[in-house]
Amino acid sequence: MLIENVRKKFIKLFKEEPLLVRSPGRVNLIGEHTDYNLGFVLPAAIDNAIYYAISPRNDNNCKLYSVDLDEDFNFEVDDLKYSEKRWPNYLMGVVDQLNKTGIRISGFNCVFGGDIPLGAGLSSSAAIGAGLAFSLNHIFNLGIDKLSLVKLAQKSENEFAGVNCGIMDQFVNIFGAEGRVLKIDCRSFEYEYHPLANDELRIVLCNTMVTHSLADSEYNRRRAQCESGVQTLQQYNPEIKSLRDVPLEHLFSHKSNLDETIFRRCKYVIEENERVTNACSDLEKKDFDSFGQRMYESHRGLRDEYEVSCPELDFMAEEALYSDEVIGARMMGGGFGGCTINLVYESNVKKFKSFIEKAYKKKYNKKPPVYICRIEGGTQIIS
Ligand code: GLA
Repeated sequence: MLIENVRKKFIKLFKEEPLLVRSPGRVNLIGEHTDYNLGFVLPAAIDNAIYYAISPRNDNNCKLYSVDLDEDFNFEVDDLKYSEKRWPNYLMGVVDQLNKTGIRISGFNCVFGGDIPLGAGLSSSAAIGAGLAFSLNHIFNLGIDKLSLVKLAQKSENEFAGVNCGIMDQFVNIFGAEGRVLKIDCRSFEYEYHPLANDELRIVLCNTMVTHSLADSEYNRRRAQCESGVQTLQQYNPEIKSLRDVPLEHLFSHKSNLDETIFRRCKYVIEENERVTNACSDLEKKDFDSFGQRMYESHRGLRDEYEVSCPELDFMAEEALYSDEVIGARMMGGGFGGCTINLVYESNVKKFKSFIEKAYKKKYNKKPPVYICRIEGGTQIIS
């Protein structure tokens, strides 16, 4: 067991019993590139997770050990410097945010490891950041509420690790619930749960194994394009603060005022927000066919209008569309690589897995990793 390895390593290194915390990866059913446009998303926490073993120290030293990389890293609470090793930045960033908020902690001992595949778009970085924020909150009795933990973890990734992500990943990491997806309103931070039972359906992720070097710069470019759309539309209605405030008719009535590309980006975001809301009604009605249809529509929008897909993702999603086993499929996450997310009836999972493996192998001569996920709870203490 992963958690046992982490615990044993901790006891070996630090000769004491740690607090154990499980911090999950995430999937996103629908609502892509909408979080930073203050729209809706529909993610869920999954069974792949990072496990923390952690305890407070009496001095200022923070001693980190990554089981997966077999690497350690030490720093002092009040002496934080960006590390070329990169992974420590996701942890130091959390301490940095606490310092900036004026919350004093002492040092800590920390061992962590898990089974969230890296670079697959399952948000291992948010699991690391939010999981540590949660753990420190507990061992130092900081009394930080859940939403503040989410914001702190997001800021730590933005500022220290230098990743300009939205709030979805940290939010679902903390608020996720077993067998339920989480609809988040990224403007008001209100949220609601909708059922997606683990026994009936499975979430199957197909990894293209593509990691696009343009992903970061294109992500920032999309953000800027949406902001530029908002700026233009604001000239005609000063009430508009984000794409969330723009009805589709309003966008169409100003089509000629917008650059053609910007228009398509905005159209995708506005329609995707609507899809999330409709998808939640589908779940309440157990209308999985309509839900699946919306997943394909989301993919088409991401491919043709938002332009963040890639041939490998398109191939995976299209193959799924033609197979009878899949309810819905689309690319997931920032784009340009990573995984497709497929909604599959439990009884069809095996057949679909072997179908997609064969198809991808034939086309790209690579066997793609396929992950079959369950929806689990958010970050929590393990007794
Ligand atoms: C990345 C970011 C999220 C979100 C998605 C796109 O995963 O971390 O905040 O913007 O891309 O939906």
